Amino acid sequence: MTIALIVAAGSGERLGADRPKALVEVAGRPMLQWSIDALAAMGEVQRIVVALPPGTHAPPGVIGVDGGSTRSESVRRALAAAGDGDPVIVHDAARPLLTPALAREVTGALQRDEQAAAAIAAAPVSDTIKRVDAGGAVSETLARDSLWAVQTPQVFRRGALERALDVSEDLLAVATDDAWLVERSGGRVIVVNVSGENLKVTTPLDLEVAALLLARRSPEQP
Ligand code: C5P
Repeated sequence: MTIALIVAAGSGERLGADRPKALVEVAGRPMLQWSIDALAAMGEVQRIVVALPPGTHAPPGVIGVDGGSTRSESVRRALAAAGDGDPVIVHDAARPLLTPALAREVTGALQRDEQAAAAIAAAPVSDTIKRVDAGGAVSETLARDSLWAVQTPQVFRRGALERALDVSEDLLAVATDDAWLVERSGGRVIVVNVSGENLKVTTPLDLEVAALLLARRSPEQP
């Protein structure tokens, strides 16, 4: 059976809210609750563990753990509390537009590719991406046709994720996603094109857009 880890322990400074980002209300629910409801609606998810800002109570129906000082440390703590289950879905609470269908696309892709250690939600980039030096001048323009913007959910075979997270705190601290920790040890990571609504809430503008999109969903739809 599948288990799901939601990382929600970030402070979300760029949002400028009066509480941790995951607890900010969006369209009538705390941001975190939208992801919990989407994952709970997947029959195959047997347990949900949430890495929370220290001192926060876990919402009903999930296991709560104190988050770590970095995102990957929060993932490691959540996995340690998760008990049995394979594969493992890792999701950021900062992406409240998750749906069961989207998560199933990613778990299904991993299931179909026996060689893959992980499958990750992603979208081809539409902007041109340039490398810029410290002086603000462009040093390189990257070839856009092979660039993807990576999101969560990211779904891992349990053993691959455990091995990937079994590294120094320094390495965990520089990982902006868990898939990179698998890639660096040679694991095959496949992308699943989920272009669409699965935006990440970072700024007040993102919050407004997410609220509009969530508000138009029907009340029963996670
Ligand atoms: O900082 P960023 O927006 O990339 O964080 C992505 C996700 O990781 C957020 O849902 C945030 O709550 C979570 N996080 C965490 N523990 C940390 C830092 C971030 O659970 N120490």
